[in-house]
Amino acid sequence: MSLFLPLQAIVLFTFMCIPLGVPFTVTMSDSGVPSALVDAPQTGFSMNINGARTDTHEQEAVYDIMRATGNEWATDIPDVCRGRWHGIECMPDKDNVYHVVSLSFGALSDDTAFPTCEPTRSFISPSITKLPHIRTLFFYRCFSNNPQPIPTFLGRLGPNLQTLVLRENGHVGPIPNELGNLTHLRVLDLHKNNLNGSIPVSLRQVTSLRSLDLSGNKLTGPIPTITFHLLNVLDLNQNHLTGSIPTTLGSCHSLIKIDISRNRLLGPVPDAIDGLTSLIFLDLSYNSLSGPLPLSLRSLNSLQTLILNGNPMMSTTIPNNVFDGLKDLTTLVLSNMNLHGPIPESLGRLPCLRVLHLDGNHLNGSIPSTFRRLNTISELRLDNNQLTGLVPFGREMAWRMRRKLKIDNNLGLCYGESNGFGDDLSSLFDSGISHCGASRPGSPVTVRHVSTSNGDAPRSSTKSAGVVHQSPLFSSLLGLTGFLAFTVYLLR
Ligand SMILES: *[C@@H]1O[C@H](CO)[C@@H](O)[C@H](O)[C@H]1NC(C)=O
Ligand SMILES: *[C@@H]1O[C@H](CO)[C@@H](O)[C@H](O)[C@H]1NC(C)=O
Ligand SMILES: *[C@@H]1O[C@H](CO)[C@@H](O)[C@H](O)[C@H]1NC(C)=O
Repeated sequence: MSLFLPLQAIVLFTFMCIPLGVPFTVTMSDSGVPSALVDAPQTGFSMNINGARTDTHEQEAVYDIMRATGNEWATDIPDVCRGRWHGIECMPDKDNVYHVVSLSFGALSDDTAFPTCEPTRSFISPSITKLPHIRTLFFYRCFSNNPQPIPTFLGRLGPNLQTLVLRENGHVGPIPNELGNLTHLRVLDLHKNNLNGSIPVSLRQVTSLRSLDLSGNKLTGPIPTITFHLLNVLDLNQNHLTGSIPTTLGSCHSLIKIDISRNRLLGPVPDAIDGLTSLIFLDLSYNSLSGPLPLSLRSLNSLQTLILNGNPMMSTTIPNNVFDGLKDLTTLVLSNMNLHGPIPESLGRLPCLRVLHLDGNHLNGSIPSTFRRLNTISELRLDNNQLTGLVPFGREMAWRMRRKLKIDNNLGLCYGESNGFGDDLSSLFDSGISHCGASRPGSPVTVRHVSTSNGDAPRSSTKSAGVVHQSPLFSSLLGLTGFLAFTVYLLR
């Protein structure tokens, strides 16, 4: 359930090769901060001693908060901590008085029945500041039809608050400076609102942060120079942030995930990131970052996913050994980066690689023979480059990828007897490449992709072989027959 349920166990991820498309989830632990409260079962009052009851001031505050979200029914409940609705948690103190520690709203999923908000008139009641023990506030899709700024009074919750989630709430205006007052915050999630203005510098004070998600807003200005030694997740994707990537990011040694894609960032990827040895996921795509690719990437020896596409760098090459140490790398996306020169052989030695996109560049030379050894590869895009020469992989690998192998629109790729394709190549993928013996250099046969749809059932080799009867004599027509075979396949 990812960041939605911050009370759950710590950091879930796998150390094995994982494919693209598996959601990256990090879940935070909420425990560990000293408090006046006694740790006790929080769900209901099954272990309650007679006489225990909710603090009366807090009870009134909860009524206010419930009324403000259209949940008037709660005011009929004589003791809110005994109300047992999902979305309220209480804990007793030494005198057996119960205090509200967590409030959650919004229809997160079918099995998480937090109270929902009445969308047209809900707001966050200032009575929240009357809950001195509150640790977790969670509002999901609550105020979308009644757009309002994030209230500055949330800053008054001070060091008690550990989790503040205001997700897809339609909040407008800036992120209040006052949130910098929440100095013990571990999770700040303001994903997908309409927040504008810049990220307040005051957030630098919140050094306890484990997860900062400000993605999907309209934030402008630079990324503040943060040094959060405990930060696991930084997600600022889909904003309008400018300036360069701060080098101080390199001192956030606990980072597991950085996503600052889809902004307007300039300048190079700082060398200082070489200290991020826990980093698993790095997405810097769709910015205006400049080359060269920093050799410090090599130091990120936990990295599984590196996404840099959509940063057209000035005549950058892929340094020969830049990805050498990345033994866990499963996904490498370097499409449309204006990359020149050869594909380094070392890419073929990445033992976990599943997804490799190098399409839409100016890469030339041949596909390294080491690519034959990419035993885990399931998606390879080399199309729209200037590659030439013999395709190094054989029949089995091509079958494994089927249409997730894209090599069309190159200068002169071809196949030979050593590939073991026989006459069957055209039914394997609509590559538009021809037999090495038959293609005249400089006049590649080019066939456009008809479809990029994935997930189709594997075609049986006998059936496909039946569609195309290809004699070497007609190999220059291979691209066309491939297209026809493919069309036949689609029409079936
Ligand atoms: C910041 O917190 C202090 C107490 O920690 C409080 O007195 C002050 O009002 C807060 N300021 C804002 C702007 O919330
Ligand atoms: C933020 O958006 C509001 C409209 O929702 C606008 O009035 C305000 O000027 C914007 N502020 C900035 C800093 O862009
Ligand atoms: C690749 O392109 C570069 C220019 O970007 C050129 O210097 C080099 O000779 C080319 N290599 C091959 C094998 O075509």
